[in-house]
Amino acid sequence: MTAKTTPLAETDNDHDIVPVDLGTRRYDIHLGSGLIDRAGELIAPLLRRQRTVVISDKNVARHWLTPLVRSLEGAGIETDSIILEPGEQTKSFAQLERLTTELLGKRIERSTIIIALGGGVIGDLVGFAAAVTLRGIDFIQIPTSLLAHVDSSVGGKTGINSLHGKNLVGAFHQPRLVLADTDTLGTLPPRELRAGYAEVVKYGLIGDVGFFEWLENNGDRVLSGDAQAQRHAIGVSCRAKAAVVAADEREHGPRALLNFGHTFGHALEAETGYSSRLLHGEGVAIGSVMALQLSERMGLCLAGAAGRLRAHLKAMGVPHDLTDIADASWTAKRLLDHMGLDKKVTDGKLTFILARAIGDGFVTNNVDEADVLSVLKAALN
Ligand code: NAD
Ligand code: GLY
Repeated sequence: MTAKTTPLAETDNDHDIVPVDLGTRRYDIHLGSGLIDRAGELIAPLLRRQRTVVISDKNVARHWLTPLVRSLEGAGIETDSIILEPGEQTKSFAQLERLTTELLGKRIERSTIIIALGGGVIGDLVGFAAAVTLRGIDFIQIPTSLLAHVDSSVGGKTGINSLHGKNLVGAFHQPRLVLADTDTLGTLPPRELRAGYAEVVKYGLIGDVGFFEWLENNGDRVLSGDAQAQRHAIGVSCRAKAAVVAADEREHGPRALLNFGHTFGHALEAETGYSSRLLHGEGVAIGSVMALQLSERMGLCLAGAAGRLRAHLKAMGVPHDLTDIADASWTAKRLLDHMGLDKKVTDGKLTFILARAIGDGFVTNNVDEADVLSVLKAALN
């Protein structure tokens, strides 16, 4: 994949605006500091009736609900809220039922726009609730984790988990607006920040070696809270994601590149029970190293790429080896079986995102299971 990024539509000293060009469903990502304080002013023009419901989780609400409600009400928007438990378990049928029931109980209308304030869990659940409630209402994403800033809040993938696996029940439903306020990252636990960093690195791996080099030199600034570095890293990531989504909204082709590291990562998440033993981004980080190891093993990529990624993740304090996971005592075959349950299976064959080099990812289902097993076995030693 060649680096092809959507240009910024507008930049001022306060914030950047990245368009997601989807024709009649186009929307903007506003990115920068102080955007929650400006939410009322930015959201009011989208509302037919000046009324909204904010959905968040307890951790996020503690820091960011009051300023958001103040901003919305300051702009004359009557604001209600629903606060859910934090954690992956919230992406469930039970919480979807609870959320849709509460929304309907608040007498929302087809024209009501609801707001997801939180990380990927809240964004995915609220987006799906918006897709199905009253046969589809609009929603706005206000991402608060690094992962949500650079990935989950953009592109309209929404959904919940099934007993059969993660994100297996869902819908494509694009938000009307994304407000990515980098100030929210200041209250994000450091482990969550580092996990989200794996999704930032992903954009370098799949299509932009220059960005990967920039991260090698500046990743510590991103992780230590340097606002300028964070805005740059999130801006590059959002532009890359916007370009991929505009080219292939429903993942018939190149959008699958965004799953770099995820085939391995999802198997690890399943084995660790979607728990705090392994965060989603940590699984992606370890899975990305394994995807490069597989690319090298298959002779598709020059030796050294996996080692270079591993060294960078190590320097940033991001888990990078399978053995970084506590009690990682599975067999390679068991992990391979989990991959078979992943969404990324076509005609019974596993889909992998591999790379010819850092910055040159590609999608293939022409992978020999024996090679995957060898990489898994080596990683487990
Ligand atoms: P998350 O939403 O669980 O947030 C991580 C933790 O940080 C939670 O405990 C949350 O309460 C807390 N938190 C979030 N923002 C905070 C803040 N500013 N201050 C304090 N605490 C804060 O997890 P995540 O990593 O944001 O997202 C992971 C989810 O996203 C997974 O379910 C994954 O499947 C999904 N995802 C979706 C897409 C997509 O395209 N839709 C892409 C990638 C990941
Ligand atoms: N996070 C993968 C995608 O949006 O397609």
